[in-house]
Amino acid sequence: MIYLDNAATSFPKPERVYVEMDKCMRQYCANPGRSGHRLALEAGRAIYRTRERLCRLFNIESPMQVVFTSNATEALNLGIKGLLKEGDHVVTTSMEHNSVARPLTALKAKGVSVTYIGCDSKGHLNPRDIERAIKKNTALIIITHASNVTGTLMPVKEVGCIAKERGIPFMLDAAQTAGIYDIDVKDMNIDILAFPGHKGLMGPQGTGGLYISENLDVLQMKEGGTGSRSEELDQPIVVPDRYESGTPNTAGIVGLGEGVGFILERGTAAIRGHEEELTGMLLQGFSQIKGVKIYGPANPRLQAGVVSINIGDGDSGEISYILDRSYGIATRSGLHCSPLAHRTIGTFDQGTVRFSIGYFNTREDIEAAVRAVEEIAAEIV
Ligand code: ALA
Repeated sequence: MIYLDNAATSFPKPERVYVEMDKCMRQYCANPGRSGHRLALEAGRAIYRTRERLCRLFNIESPMQVVFTSNATEALNLGIKGLLKEGDHVVTTSMEHNSVARPLTALKAKGVSVTYIGCDSKGHLNPRDIERAIKKNTALIIITHASNVTGTLMPVKEVGCIAKERGIPFMLDAAQTAGIYDIDVKDMNIDILAFPGHKGLMGPQGTGGLYISENLDVLQMKEGGTGSRSEELDQPIVVPDRYESGTPNTAGIVGLGEGVGFILERGTAAIRGHEEELTGMLLQGFSQIKGVKIYGPANPRLQAGVVSINIGDGDSGEISYILDRSYGIATRSGLHCSPLAHRTIGTFDQGTVRFSIGYFNTREDIEAAVRAVEEIAAEIV
């Protein structure tokens, strides 16, 4: 199988992720932060190690500012719903995933208003449009770092500067970039960073997280046992306990820590360099095939390793099915949970066939994908 669906979840994982998760489950997967025995302490230390590594990766001051969630969607919901209240206004973009658009839509019923900045047909955002949309009651600017449909990279630094100048919290959805692109919460003025653990960070599914700047008061989404201040019925306000009620996904977080450890060892420059090279190859190959339409920037410097195409008028679902069944190539078709982005690039009716590259893909994988698309195009166009 040639796996080109890394934007959905990365696969495979670094060997050390499997090894440490197995070790954790067999040797020390007690309940961290609850009991005082040595296994619970070891589990607690392993979780803290993951927090520390995430801090190194994202230049976060304190490990206590990293909140674990079960995925990026949960992190985004916590940040969005925990921050916004009746009468607030939000500025976001037309390239957002439903994990941003749906919580914002749900909040409309509670009196929160939203401005979606239209991106161009390749998914590019003009940061000046964000600035122009700011109102007196704008309480949050939230953008994706890279579109999960076209890979288009957004001007994060510019938007972060605008948010800082205007004193508005800035939230970044790093679902497609964490672990691949440099993210520095201080340099980029990011107040809230939502990330999945199971994509570029190479951890297992069921992991993700949220960084919350200490200046922000984000309401928790759940209350319960934290292992701390057990004598009190009120939820502790100390972070991360405030947001992490209930037994955590210890083995998953340990696996995430190993994924992040792998990234810190290799360096994001090497990871991004490899993915950029393969993205360039894929774009170059597809651009030579008659009947293939490429969406997005079609430039590996301007997009993450996500390439969306269509072949003539062919149904994107059928093409993805043929790639899987006849060529053993895994892709994702349709709307990718991002109908706004598909409307922006004009593919709402047809969807696209999305190829998404990961660190473990090879040049041979890309050559095989281009050959397969060439053959399918010759049949149907
Ligand atoms: N958001 C993930 C994707 O783009 C699941 O496929």
